[in-house]
Amino acid sequence: MHHFSYRNGEMFAEDVTCASIAEAVGTPVYVYSEATLRRHARVFQDAFAGLDALAAFSVKANSNLSVLRVLASEGMGADVVSGGELKRARAAGIPGSRIVFSGVGKTDAELQFALEQDVSQFNVESENEAAALSRVAVSLGRRAPVAFRVNPDVAAGGHAKISTGKAEDKFGIAWSSARSAYARAASLDGIDIVGVDVHIGSQITELAPFERAFRKVAGLVGDLRTDGHTIERIDLGGGLGISYDGRSEGEGTPPGPGDYAALIRAIAEPLNVRLIFEPGRMIAGNAGILLTRAIYVKQGEERTFLIVDAAMNDLIRPALYDAFHDIKPVRAPSPEARYGQYDVVGPVCETSDRFAKARELPEMAEGDLFALMSAGAYGAVQASQYNTRPLAPEVLVSGGAFHVVRRRPTFEEMIALESAPPWSATSG
Ligand code: LLP
Repeated sequence: MHHFSYRNGEMFAEDVTCASIAEAVGTPVYVYSEATLRRHARVFQDAFAGLDALAAFSVKANSNLSVLRVLASEGMGADVVSGGELKRARAAGIPGSRIVFSGVGKTDAELQFALEQDVSQFNVESENEAAALSRVAVSLGRRAPVAFRVNPDVAAGGHAKISTGKAEDKFGIAWSSARSAYARAASLDGIDIVGVDVHIGSQITELAPFERAFRKVAGLVGDLRTDGHTIERIDLGGGLGISYDGRSEGEGTPPGPGDYAALIRAIAEPLNVRLIFEPGRMIAGNAGILLTRAIYVKQGEERTFLIVDAAMNDLIRPALYDAFHDIKPVRAPSPEARYGQYDVVGPVCETSDRFAKARELPEMAEGDLFALMSAGAYGAVQASQYNTRPLAPEVLVSGGAFHVVRRRPTFEEMIALESAPPWSATSG
């Protein structure tokens, strides 16, 4: 469910017309709906009502400070994977006690900063990282709460590039060495073993892989307790998929938070642990769109190209994962509208700069506005300035108001970090 809908033939973001945002801010532009973010945060957290649970928003999905502040005000914590994300979470007012620090390659400097911020948990991904964390914690005279991320060897996820839970993936410690890793870590100074962490992939649209992984984790919790460890938390990661085509039921549509929660209750309640979740896409994905304008309609030999002002540098998901994003015109098509098949492409000089192939759309004209839907997660955060294109601005809508929560950089800002070497000719 989201708050982007047609009224009187026009697409609205909550109570603001998308056309008025495009007019005021220019295109391409990301538009987020605060009401949708709040709704998703509430639905997810309500599903676990009565359990000791922390929903830590996965900041990598959308790290805009205003988005984080909205989610923090709904009681969400943060799952961060870098010192930068940790700074963002703290800047958005999320206390360390509601932050978990994940990621395979944390540096000493990041570990130190996270210890100083009193993060609630380090999701440690290797024994070497545990040793580094111990060393840094001891040097600061602090203690680090640790969960190992275990790799359950379960295949899951919408695309090979976003599956993380298989034995061949770089994530987590090998299942077969989990008990010995815990035993060794427990003897390290400055480390407090507190739990077990797992995350198997993203855009998962069925419950079965979650069930397989979570049952394995429940078994491991039993083993670790037998070994004498205090396992008081389990972090079940993120990964719950969303609908990218607007359908809420049928083949390929993801389970709702209610079904996901019911599964987790059945497995985790007997363990008597605090539960941590790291949802990203499920919270932010359908809370954002990317508004873009048609520059040219070009008739090729075999296909019709709709060349738009957004490109793969703004939203890389179709190019990188063959991801499907629904495309909707900002002005609703009239009942008599004729339809055509378009390849929707951007201006970047790459063949992979294509949002859709042979997509059936109402006849489009140059200057028309439309929306790439479900772009609130892994959209703006994965943008680059390839082709020296400025990062698309981000707008947050709340009711009838909107605000530019990140503006478009100027060309001067884009080149400001560059400097000429002293030996280069400085003439001109
Ligand atoms: N926790 C960890 C440790 C993760 O690695 C991820 C996502 C999440 C939580 C959040 O997963 P979510 O609930 O959003 O599925 N860029 C890709 C997705 C990459 C996901 C990376 N990890 C895409 O655009 O589909």
